[in-house]
Formats: sequence, structure tokens, C-alpha cells
Amino acid sequence: MRQHVNPLSRNFNEIEKFPSLIEIFGDSKLNLHLDIGCAAGEFLFDLALVNTSWNYLGIEIRERLVKTAKLKVREREIKNLYFVFGNANNILNDFQSKFILENVKSISFNFPDPWFKKKHYKRRVIQPDFINILSNSLQRGSIIFIKTDVKDLFDYMDCTISNNLNFQKIDKKDFNYSKSFNPNKIKTNREKLVIDNKLDIFESIYIKI
Ligand SMILES: C[S@@+](CC[C@H](N)C(=O)[O-])C[C@H]1O[C@@H](n2cnc3c(N)ncnc32)[C@H](O)[C@@H]1O
Repeated sequence: MRQHVNPLSRNFNEIEKFPSLIEIFGDSKLNLHLDIGCAAGEFLFDLALVNTSWNYLGIEIRERLVKTAKLKVREREIKNLYFVFGNANNILNDFQSKFILENVKSISFNFPDPWFKKKHYKRRVIQPDFINILSNSLQRGSIIFIKTDVKDLFDYMDCTISNNLNFQKIDKKDFNYSKSFNPNKIKTNREKLVIDNKLDIFESIYIKI
């Protein structure tokens, strides 16, 4: 079992400065997807290699994982993938990174840390204030995907997002995956583990209206 990183630790107050999209990607005009809590980024590597008409950006709070992922991107000369180290809440709350939210077409929260104890709920990545920031900066039509195997966490995230009137839930059966950031429904590492263990997966999709 890995030790969870406390995102509220002061270690994460200092934020890595974002280069511009032109500096990050080979073609900055492509659709941009943001994966929050991307761990070592395997999911994004898989996506970036298959879907070259999208740019992918991962934010992860474990610095070592981000360093290794960045090195791999450079070695493999991948032009549509970028990783940022830090607490996603702090990074996306920072004025300097506002342009990221203004440019993303979609955001995924795949199997975020559940922080089971009530006193630790404030460490969960989805918070009402954070959803307000997303709601104020995302373009209309932007999509949020949430996925988890923890029902209580799902209910909490679903309620937090649904309480924001700028987001509307989309029925999964009405959603056109072929036009999304993940047309082949590639699975994250955690998702593969959950499927192997035959556990339930709870997921929802929301659109900014
Ligand atoms: C359970 S793992 C899931 C990893 C991956 N998304 C998957 O589905 O396999 C949750 C990840 O989110 C990261 N994380 C937790 N809180 C975060 C935060 N506030 N900002 C960025 N990353 C965070 C953790 O370090 C961990 O790598």
C-alpha cells in the first residue's frame, strides 16, 4: 500500500510555472485534455500515442513520478503530452494557469484518492471551491469525467459537481465517445486492477453549460 501524499501540506504551496501551450506541445491548436492525479502517466502515454489529434496534460502530486514521466516524454520525443508536478487544486487556482482551464476541452478525475475519514475529506481533490474555479474558467461545452470504485467518494464528487448549476450531468448512453479524448476507452492502471478484482466502477460525465 502506498502512503498517500497530503495535498494540504505546505510543500505544495510553491507552484511550478507553466510554459505557454506553444512551448509545451508540437501543435498547440489541438484539443486539450487534462488528467488530474495521473500517477506515472501510463494512461496518458497510451492515449497520446494512439490519438495524435489530441494534446494531453497530466497533473500529479508525486514529484518522482512526474520527473520520470517527463524524461520518458523527452526520450520518446512525444509532442502531444506534458506533465506537471504539484497539487492540482493549487496549480489550477493560480492566476498564471488560468489559460490551461480556458483551453481544455475535457478533464478526467480517475480513481482519485478517497480519503475515507471524514476529517480528511478536505484533502479530496474535488472540493466545492475547486468546482467553482472550473465552472468560472472552463469554456461552455467542456466535459468533466469522474470515475472511482469507492461508492461514498462517487456520491461526494457527484453531489459536489451537481450542486454547481453550471454543470449538467450527461447520460453515458447519450455520450459520443468517438469524439472524446478517449475514443478507444483505454483503461487507467487503477481501472485495470479494479476490473481484475471484479469490483464495481462508478462514473459520471458532466458538461459545462
Ligand atoms: C489512486 S491514484 C489513481 C491514479 C490514476 N488516475 C489511475 O486511475 O490509475 C490517485 C493519484 O492522484 C494523485 N493525487 C492525489 N491528490 C492529488 C492532487 N491534489 N493533485 C494532483 N495529484 C493528486 C495521487 O498521488 C495518485 O497518484
